Amino acid sequence: TLKLAIVGGGSTYTPELIDGFARLRDTLPIGELVLIDPAADRLELVGGLARRIFAKQGHPGTISTTTDVAAGVQGADAVLLQLRVGGQAARDRDETWPLDCGCVGQETTGAGGLAKALRTVPVVLDIAEQVRRANPDAWIVDFTNPVGIVTRALQGAGHKAVGLCNVAIGFQRRFAKHLGVDHELIRLDHVGLNHLTWERGVTLLDAPGSTTGREVLPELLAGFGQEISEDLHLPLPVIRRLGVVPSYYLRYFYQHDVVVQELKAKGSRASEVAAIERQLLGMYADPALDTKPELLAQRGGAFYSEAAVQLIASLLGTDGRTTVQVVNARNDGVLPFLPDDAVIEVPAEVDAAGVRPLPQRPVEPLYAGLIAGVTAYEQLALEAALKGGRDRVFDALLAHPLVGQLELADKLTDSLLANNREHLSWA
Ligand code: G6P
Ligand code: MN
Repeated sequence: TLKLAIVGGGSTYTPELIDGFARLRDTLPIGELVLIDPAADRLELVGGLARRIFAKQGHPGTISTTTDVAAGVQGADAVLLQLRVGGQAARDRDETWPLDCGCVGQETTGAGGLAKALRTVPVVLDIAEQVRRANPDAWIVDFTNPVGIVTRALQGAGHKAVGLCNVAIGFQRRFAKHLGVDHELIRLDHVGLNHLTWERGVTLLDAPGSTTGREVLPELLAGFGQEISEDLHLPLPVIRRLGVVPSYYLRYFYQHDVVVQELKAKGSRASEVAAIERQLLGMYADPALDTKPELLAQRGGAFYSEAAVQLIASLLGTDGRTTVQVVNARNDGVLPFLPDDAVIEVPAEVDAAGVRPLPQRPVEPLYAGLIAGVTAYEQLALEAALKGGRDRVFDALLAHPLVGQLELADKLTDSLLANNREHLSWA
């Protein structure tokens, strides 16, 4: 049987994952699960609920907890990374100080996302090194944001890593529901970078796993009403005219200044999440609770357990087939206008032999320009995270399509450093 380790296992999100592991145990038969987290108090609460969920659903696997990464990853076949350096407090700052410069404050997009990358990359690389020492064959599945930059860091250091996000699976499930079909029949023509993607097509397959089907995006777009526009926070006529479905993260670009005004007028998402987390932890402490609480649905993690189960099952060969899944993987020429070592988010064939991104038709200039700009930013962000130094932070910001001006990059650099000193060894 399989052994899985989750770094950041004390996250309030973990019951979502456990629930998926329990429901989908035929696809992914887990014998041993280790939750790893530096916060022993959270581990105990989350670990307790995780065991009760397994017990209630008759899952035979064992669940243990530890604060020791090296010990926890021993013998693991796959290690999931879902950590947040500095917790919601650090996120709160990422979402706040850029607003003072008139820039979007967001955990993964723009200057806040750069701050998160700088804090996170060294920590993740250190953990990955411990995984490699324990078991060089183990797969590392990264959920840790910013997923594109973190995955690029892992690949650059030669780790057996793949990045995962729930945006694509969210669209897949939503389109399936709208059409009244099984989600296995929906294949997305999804392209871009993590949190910078467009659905350029949606195929309704003739059968699950089939290579043939028909294009249904035009009818989906015609059928969708205001609800899709509300969810994506983008005007319906624009979505219809473009004929693609941008992820809701595109709003931070297409309506940047509008978003800044909105964000200035309300509290941060981090403070909202912190309040939800306090409530969740209170619930997890109840020994009678043995399911994931409804309240968890107020977090952004919908379907992430299903995405993880599918991906790990194919990578470890427990589902015995080659599946097509949207992942973050090395470009290697798939998008010819990007460097080979860029990490892109596209559908890929996944099986025990690894992850093979599918060929993509040429990307329209309307999307390719932004993808190229953000890829250059990601490369510079990674260099700043690896080597440190004010100039590297400044360069990454200057390259970012949402920044791009000297004075602005200068101010943002100062704020970023002032707000993150305790997390940056070099600052
Ligand atoms: C989605 C994104 C994640 C992100 C999360 C935020 O799931 O794909 O990358 O971390 O939303 O959700 P939260 O509840 O923390 O705001
Ligand atoms: Mn994501």
